Amino acid sequence: MSAEPGGVTAVAHANIALVKYWGKRDSTLILPATSSVSLTLDAFRTTTHVELLDAPAGRDEVVLDGEPLAGAALTKVLAFLHLVRSQASRTATAQAARVTSTNEVPTGAGLASSASAFAALAGAAATAYGLELGRRDLSRLARRGSGSASRSVYGGFVVWHAGDLADPAAGDLTSYAEPLPTAPELDVAMAVAVLDAGPKKIGSREAMAATVATSPYFPAWTEHTEADAAEAADAIAAGDLPRLGEIAEASAMRMHATMLAARPAVRYLAASSLAVLDAVADLRAAGVGAWATMDAGPNVKVLCEGADLDVVAAGLRGIVLPGGGAPHVLLARPGPGLRIEASA
Ligand code: DP6
Repeated sequence: MSAEPGGVTAVAHANIALVKYWGKRDSTLILPATSSVSLTLDAFRTTTHVELLDAPAGRDEVVLDGEPLAGAALTKVLAFLHLVRSQASRTATAQAARVTSTNEVPTGAGLASSASAFAALAGAAATAYGLELGRRDLSRLARRGSGSASRSVYGGFVVWHAGDLADPAAGDLTSYAEPLPTAPELDVAMAVAVLDAGPKKIGSREAMAATVATSPYFPAWTEHTEADAAEAADAIAAGDLPRLGEIAEASAMRMHATMLAARPAVRYLAASSLAVLDAVADLRAAGVGAWATMDAGPNVKVLCEGADLDVVAAGLRGIVLPGGGAPHVLLARPGPGLRIEASA
């Protein structure tokens, strides 16, 4: 698709890792220490419009949810636009871009995701600047914005390969995401228990770097994660949800254990998170297949069979949180990959 005068719109959905990405081996190229496996959701999408301006690069404009973007988030987007322009061989004198982005995440859900954001930006910006990239190249490009964004290029179950570990240039080419062969009978869903985030904690990029630098458990984490990613792919191909759920919950707990061992500790687990983890264990004890996963925040996402989503959601809504009240519960099912449309 070539660039159109009216610009390009791209839509991407959030993904939740079932085998986590936590740690980089190259922070410029965003090469992960391990492979990871995720599920793209139908909820929480980002729509991004990129239009080229009659102005030189350096005059980029970025608006997120109606407000001009500022600070570190703006710096990341500008660096990404620069990368796209350099790949399109339109360097310093190239046209600037106007980026307008909307996140469809329930307000205050604490689920704003760089994954859907950079996947949508990669699709819209690459197309606007005339780069004709296939999915694999879009995945590589999105990775440079935020690692987990490489996975949002695809729908459903996805693997992001660590790639060639020997040298960064080879790793840059071989570290991309692709869809995983999935047993047709595997019908999954996710319930998200939204918990009060409290004061803002350290961001995932910084927390990851601190874990790599100071957690003595990091080597054990990387060693087991590569095997977990392969086993998760097998379970997805075989349609074995209990096996996938066990791997997913173990991966999340191991990731949090690894960051808790950093100095100072990185702790996203809150008392309310533990209450949800207990409720998930209770659901399992009652015979309902439900497995918890958590990312860089207190919210708990619960993987279950599609047919069990209502009973899992009811179980989560019934929790009495340590501070009183119940979690707000959002429901999601597998969602599609990146969609790109030129506008008239
Ligand atoms: C806990 O992809 O946000 O969600 O590559 O530094 O932008 P950067 O990190 P990011 O990290 C995601 C971490 C995670 C686990 C995961 O999605 O695999």
